[in-house]
Amino acid sequence: MKISVIGTGYVGLVSGACFAEFGWNVTCIDKSSERIESLKQGIIPIYEPGLDDLVLSNVRAGRLSFSLDYAPAVEDSDAVFIAVGTPSRRGDGHADLTYVYAAAEEIASHLAGYTVVVDKSTVPVGTARKVAEIIRKANPNADFDVASNPEFLREGSAIGDFMRPDRVVIGAESERAKAVLKELYRPLYQIETPMVFTTLETAELIKYASNAFLAAKISFINEISALCEKTGADIKAISKGMGLDKRIGSKFLQAGPGYGGSCFPKDVSALIRIFHDNNLEPHILEAVTEVNLNQKMRLAYRVINLLGQDLTQKTIAVLGLTFKPETDDMREAPSLVIVPELIKAGAHIKACDPQGVREAKKLLPESVEYLDSPYDAVKDADAVIILTEWNQFRGLDLELIKKQMNGTLFADFRNIYDRSLVEKAGFTYIAVGR
Ligand code: NAD
Ligand code: UGA
Repeated sequence: MKISVIGTGYVGLVSGACFAEFGWNVTCIDKSSERIESLKQGIIPIYEPGLDDLVLSNVRAGRLSFSLDYAPAVEDSDAVFIAVGTPSRRGDGHADLTYVYAAAEEIASHLAGYTVVVDKSTVPVGTARKVAEIIRKANPNADFDVASNPEFLREGSAIGDFMRPDRVVIGAESERAKAVLKELYRPLYQIETPMVFTTLETAELIKYASNAFLAAKISFINEISALCEKTGADIKAISKGMGLDKRIGSKFLQAGPGYGGSCFPKDVSALIRIFHDNNLEPHILEAVTEVNLNQKMRLAYRVINLLGQDLTQKTIAVLGLTFKPETDDMREAPSLVIVPELIKAGAHIKACDPQGVREAKKLLPESVEYLDSPYDAVKDADAVIILTEWNQFRGLDLELIKKQMNGTLFADFRNIYDRSLVEKAGFTYIAVGR
């Protein structure tokens, strides 16, 4: 089968490379000439473990190619996946569908023969029908169906998530479209992946409801973490004690500095807008968002208060800037709230992140100093904060860190250290909810 994937970001490039690995002939298309040029030269524009090898081997095998133009790939495709960004629209939090609609317009003019146009981007209820309308208007003779196939991969483990998903959701309303998608995902049938076939609207809403539910789990445990700090209870033991109940489950119950990333914040906010558009009150979703912002501010102020509020003479080492480990993605990272708050209080920030520095430089205040090694970042610092649980920060030589520093505050905001070990090295240890 031949497919085109529009958009070569985290989702488009991973999906394209994985479909090629399944054996299909894939063209990944992007309007960014810089992106396509670098991909053609074998340079992967994002950091995602295993993606470079997967892309290169499929390019060499002749199954994966890159193009700035929709033609001729779209004309030859059995399915065209739309995997462009749907960021929060400035001002109102709605999903900005400009890129999806622009892609639909352009796909329309290149359709030839029966084609399934598949929304893989996360889009509000009703978007697939709108995409169908756009295509029909632009090319009344086109022979096509629109389908919704939301993506559930996580950054940092994207290839494994795509190749061994918990489920595949397909919103399709014609037998022809279902047959094409069934065939594309046949390799997953062989590993008995559940396939959920639904209407377009239901598939679109499954995606938002899933992300919002996971975000709610995180905000729930973060809210409990604040209570733990007041009462002396231990949030890690609480997550374990709760998570062992199969009805609750242990995943997405780790307290931390609030969720970030390109999806939970924007998708919860878009779902809130969808509720309002339908004259409904999203009570839980509003609370999820509020708790998430509070958590970031609360943790920033714990450090500021412990260091004496006026931080003009203080240096703080921040270990980890990305929203989670194993990605270079800085979108909505907790560091983007916490670091500016510390700087506002007067602190000088020395930061270290294995992959995020290039993006961080564009988003954080200019005064931030970047160091390659955590041991350099902590030199003369009054406090050290772990904001992302990169493996590189899990086994630090605490004695050496202590020797390099001026002060003794060790803020473990990912709960990756044993209090006793850190205290034994001479630090004042604070964590989240314990
Ligand atoms: P991204 O911002 O990393 O990449 C989007 C790409 O689309 C960019 O390279 C951009 O140049 C390209 N593009 C935009 N308009 C185009 C057009 N008209 N024609 C061709 N290319 C175009 O986005 P992403 O993180 O991959 O997310 C894509 C979608 O998938 C979003 O809706 C997101 O919510 C959803 N999603 C993302 C993830 C994730 O982990 N990032 C996971 C699941 C779902
Ligand atoms: C998330 C979902 O997990 C994916 O299923 C979905 O496809 C994707 O959004 C999307 O729609 O884009 P992602 O944002 O890549 O994936 O990363 P997650 O592993 O979900 O982490 C999101 C945030 O939650 C991170 O900041 C992480 O640190 C935080 N988190 C996660 C916690 O604070 N505690 C947890 O227990 C789990």
